[in-house]
Amino acid sequence: MSGLTLSPYWTKLKEHFSRISDIHMRDMFTADPERFSSFSLQAGQIFLDYSKNRIDRETMSLLFGMARDMGLEDKTTAMFSGQKINTTEQRSVLHVALRNRSNRPTYVDGEDVMPQVNQVLDRMKDFVHGVREGHWRGWTGEPVKDVVNIGIGGSDLGPRMAVKALDGFSGPDLRVHFVSNVDPSHLENTLARLDPRTTLFIVASKTFTTQETMFNAARAKDWLLESAKNQEHIARHFVAVSTNTPKVQEFGIDPQNMFGFWDWVGGRFSLWSAIGLPIALSIGMERFEQLLEGAHEMDEHFLNTPLENNLPVILGLLSIWYTNFFKTESHALLPYSQYLEEFPAYMQQGEMESNGKRITLQGAEVDYETGPVIWGAPGTNGQHAFYQLLHQGTRMIPCDFIIFARQPGHDPVQHRLLMANYLAQTEALMLGKTSAQVRQELESQGKSSHEIEKILPHKVFPGNKPSNSIILPELTPRTLGALIALYEHKVFVQGALWDINSFDQWGVELGKQLARKIEPELEDDSEVTDHDSSTNGLINKWKAMYWS
Ligand code: F6P
Repeated sequence: MSGLTLSPYWTKLKEHFSRISDIHMRDMFTADPERFSSFSLQAGQIFLDYSKNRIDRETMSLLFGMARDMGLEDKTTAMFSGQKINTTEQRSVLHVALRNRSNRPTYVDGEDVMPQVNQVLDRMKDFVHGVREGHWRGWTGEPVKDVVNIGIGGSDLGPRMAVKALDGFSGPDLRVHFVSNVDPSHLENTLARLDPRTTLFIVASKTFTTQETMFNAARAKDWLLESAKNQEHIARHFVAVSTNTPKVQEFGIDPQNMFGFWDWVGGRFSLWSAIGLPIALSIGMERFEQLLEGAHEMDEHFLNTPLENNLPVILGLLSIWYTNFFKTESHALLPYSQYLEEFPAYMQQGEMESNGKRITLQGAEVDYETGPVIWGAPGTNGQHAFYQLLHQGTRMIPCDFIIFARQPGHDPVQHRLLMANYLAQTEALMLGKTSAQVRQELESQGKSSHEIEKILPHKVFPGNKPSNSIILPELTPRTLGALIALYEHKVFVQGALWDINSFDQWGVELGKQLARKIEPELEDDSEVTDHDSSTNGLINKWKAMYWS
């Protein structure tokens, strides 16, 4: 038994679960006219309605009790005050310092990190201004027209998501591209459309050792030199974002062209650092700072608000309620905004790399479930793809529905249609459709009783499917910043209760190690025999196909 399952609240929640789990939300809404106002709240620009969840007041009170019992508040203070809460790597976790717009001193090993943070922001500002205003020029003296960010994981997903989300704030003169995959077609297909004279590469890698990024960056350098011919021209076309100065130099990028960050910034939390350079290039530094401000507002809310009114805490606790008591296995993120197309993929890394863990901070194996599978796609597209399973499948999948109340430039009729769909889906998931309702509907259509009996069970919706509804006034850098920070802190809350380290990622190492061993074995057509029979068989099959 571990800390969480030893908590008296765990036992109380189990008992409570057995009382509440069969109650239909339909009946909860009928019984409690105050349900919406009791289970909804506004924090800054974000409104959350969590009344369509399988909870009552006691559920929430027990969850808040368990959070306190697991030391959530102390753990939050520990993160914000720079304590080394990433215990397996002995690192502070201070992405909040990157957007600490109030400049409150924040210490790592006794040193205030804010001057360094601000210094890098100043350098970014100069650089972004130079590129966007056309002062930064390529080897032929032409301004930059295309920026290619080469990075993967946290050095790709965050900026890629934010650049796409804030596309409406970008200008027409600078296009930003993202290359991540070691599959060479990703880079080659991107380069095929670009002119080396007007292309700027950002090599983004915290470690500057990630295989995919290093291979793609080397190939990009060759591509540039095929036209530029002279090594000296690299300086006008390559910048790096990294924590590893020697490796950046070794690659051939002048440290003058390097933007640093620090080991206390986790890859998946790094878009607020110089890893956000593509975002700043796309929307300008002023708007990038607004993104930071939005996140800072959410940080202040998270740090200073009692658990009962704390948005990230509520989202985190609801996730624990479903994961550990209802035993749900996944959670869907459903933004009703095409601009947020990449948000589910971004949060997939954010949550799954953070909380896909099974060892507690004390080194014991957990005796409860941890991070769920995170997935999703924008509405309304998803409605025509996977919502069938959400409504009538055998699984319960909690969903977050996210929408912006208005969107400048949107046709009002179409925007209302988007909104209507957003609202209809959460209502349908919650209410469902009873067999009596289906029968009445079919009877009013004049169906025979034979026809009705045949089709009726297929048309019943059980309902009682939980969802959160999140509404923001408008998609701006500031609201996006707050939304991302909301989810980052949700992940923190989950990890704090599960008593795991949300900030390491040892689970990605084994595959990397084995790939390094296998790669040289693929160099010729000789038979490979030193793996298990499946892996040997696949290698030899591939060789037969490839060398034939
Ligand atoms: O996949 C593991 C990982 O370390 C991620 O956590 C990280 O975001 C990604 O690789 C990229 O790492 P880097 O920025 O060091 O290239």
